[in-house]
Amino acid sequence: MRAWLAKKVLAHNMARLRAGDYRSTLRLDAADVRFRFPGAIPPTRRLVLRNGQRVLLHFVHPDDEQGLKVLLDHLSPENRRLRFFTAACDLAGAARDAAHADGQRHIGLIATDGEDEVLGHAMARQSGAADAEVAVEVADAVHGLGLGTQLLIELVRLASQHGIRRVVAEVLPENREMLAVFRDGFGASERLVDGCVSVSFDSGAWRSAAVRFPIDGGAGQEGPHAR
Ligand SMILES: CC(C)(COP(=O)(O)OP(=O)(O)OC[C@H]1O[C@@H](n2cnc3c(N)ncnc32)[C@H](O)[C@@H]1OP(=O)(O)O)[C@@H](O)C(=O)NCCC(=O)NCCS
Repeated sequence: MRAWLAKKVLAHNMARLRAGDYRSTLRLDAADVRFRFPGAIPPTRRLVLRNGQRVLLHFVHPDDEQGLKVLLDHLSPENRRLRFFTAACDLAGAARDAAHADGQRHIGLIATDGEDEVLGHAMARQSGAADAEVAVEVADAVHGLGLGTQLLIELVRLASQHGIRRVVAEVLPENREMLAVFRDGFGASERLVDGCVSVSFDSGAWRSAAVRFPIDGGAGQEGPHAR
């Protein structure tokens, strides 16, 4: 019975994902045979980082809180400061907030190694009728391998499906990595406001970013932008 259900769920999810529809995928709970709806989404898309490491992306779920806390705990003090503008922030609170994205006004995406380790997280929070503010953090050990860019491409693509037209972010001026990702990938414009760089770009920029930084979904797999 369980194998039959698992096959059905897999077929359903593959069809929904091919249509670019994350929200209608189903999860066959590991502990008992029951379906859980969005928020409880299985690993959805896979990608291969520039060092060959495989990564799975999924919508954030409350069960991810502990993994997110570990990710934040292990950021170097400098990377934590670049992310939260202070090295002394409430990481438990940040992980709790990140894990409880509602999938509407607050979208969260998580990257794992396929097991329990969270390698990166990106979130978009609606800040105006058609505006959203984004933020991203990637585990120190996998910086520079394309993960931040891919998380943002996927996040902005989803945000644009939710009616977001303009994406904004507040970045510290010394955060060259983040500014380079926004600039190179998304053609973002920058403005210095109160000592911070206010970045903004059109949400449609995810398309050119996806072309510029094409994804490798692994042998025999569809890339995340395949339609
Ligand atoms: C900023 C941050 C998220 C970037 O993540 P990342 O995974 O290291 O970034 P990427 O690997 O995607 O991009 C880094 C570089 O690779 C390039 N790149 C990305 N994907 C690529 C690909 N598929 N092929 C070739 N180059 C690629 C980017 O243009 C960028 O170029 P650069 O090295 O010349 O600047 C990460 O450094 C981080 O977590 N910092 C601490 C937290 C933080 O500051 N968050 C931002 C708060 S708003």
